[in-house]
Amino acid sequence: MKKHILLGQTLGFCDNALTTHWQDAALHNSAGGVLVQDGRIAQVGDGATLRAAHPDAQVIDYGDKLISAGFVDAHMHYPQTAMIASWGKQLIDWLNTYTFPEESRFGDPVYAAEIAGRTMDLALSHGTTTLTSFCTIHPASVDAYFEAAAARNMAVVGGKTCMDRNAPETLQDTAQTAYDQSKALLDKWHGVGRATYAITPRFSPTSTPDQLAALGALWSERPDCLMQTHLSEQHDEIAWVKSLFPNARDYLDTYEAFGLLGASGLYGHAIHLEPREIDRLAEVGAAVVHCPTSNTFIGSGLFDTLGIAARGIRTGLATDTGGGSSFSMLHTMAAAYEIGQLRGVALHPAQLMWMATEGSAQALHMAGQIGHLGAGAAADITVLDLASTPAIAQRSARATDIWDALFPTIMMGDDRAIADVWIAGVRQQGV
Ligand code: GUN
Ligand code: ZN
Repeated sequence: MKKHILLGQTLGFCDNALTTHWQDAALHNSAGGVLVQDGRIAQVGDGATLRAAHPDAQVIDYGDKLISAGFVDAHMHYPQTAMIASWGKQLIDWLNTYTFPEESRFGDPVYAAEIAGRTMDLALSHGTTTLTSFCTIHPASVDAYFEAAAARNMAVVGGKTCMDRNAPETLQDTAQTAYDQSKALLDKWHGVGRATYAITPRFSPTSTPDQLAALGALWSERPDCLMQTHLSEQHDEIAWVKSLFPNARDYLDTYEAFGLLGASGLYGHAIHLEPREIDRLAEVGAAVVHCPTSNTFIGSGLFDTLGIAARGIRTGLATDTGGGSSFSMLHTMAAAYEIGQLRGVALHPAQLMWMATEGSAQALHMAGQIGHLGAGAAADITVLDLASTPAIAQRSARATDIWDALFPTIMMGDDRAIADVWIAGVRQQGV
């Protein structure tokens, strides 16, 4: 297979930028190169050296643009793409008013395929190369999602969203059908091509104890799968969980009691955690996912990025489309920065980029495979133009170093900053 060398500034990581000093974690080369072969990154190094060593490779010179691992969105809802930015509600009202009516449409495989394809194309145009999505209760929505990803050769995670109470009749399954359909979809898709299946109870208010137990049993039979759900997003939601599960010690216990707490679990939001919940997440090695644009948009609260990282809990970064207000992981990094500021912490651009790539990949147990600009990783690559609009260009023109040049794009950039995207070593023309 053809070899390519991508020339430009390169940014990768050799360590966790949240828990070690970012300067020791980040690897920046202002005249770097990435050798891509057979869909993988074969080498990252000095551009001129790579060129001399591989005269047969086709060279793509990105000048002073920044070559990064593709962004990894660790929690989103592709069925909510068409209703993103819906006005005026907090979580429970927002679900009932906007989300459930839209999700009811996904029994139609044609509509599901249209929105799945649209979501993947929007993701790619924003530099996101991996999605982790909730689908709907309809198996057709899961097929549509994995088919759209396979058509683009994208590494994705997803699963059938299970609900058997507190949702419209048309959006409810049962404990048994949730188990049977999840198992059938898992057998059909998990590990096929670049697909990973995540068993997906939406959140404990929309699952009976029987359904949670059924999905916990499925996870124990298939521990190679991921499990994704929501945890402690809003105060009203937490109070509701308490009333539905009066014997639970806390929100996390409503999962733990039914076999839904484990190292391959992904717990979205995780904002208002009790000390016991933090202890248990750390003990079992579970991952949480920070969804900052959602947390400000739906009015949820301020996630404690550094506090959670300091406990050794893996943390992904995510858009949470369409509770989140943007498809852009640049906007998502900006919101993570702003939430940090409201907590008195200034996350460094290196830390934000680490979260959007390596951090999310770690949360998905895919460290070194995706979200990594280093040898052996899939060549899922995003190239950033650090002067993509006049407003950004005039600011980055006076930058003193790469971080000062990158930060305006994190704070003010959007899909115009995405100069190019590669998926498994294939350049995506016209993203
Ligand atoms: N909690 C349960 N379902 C959802 C959802 O679709 N979006 C968000 N943000 N939180 C949820
Ligand atoms: Zn969500």
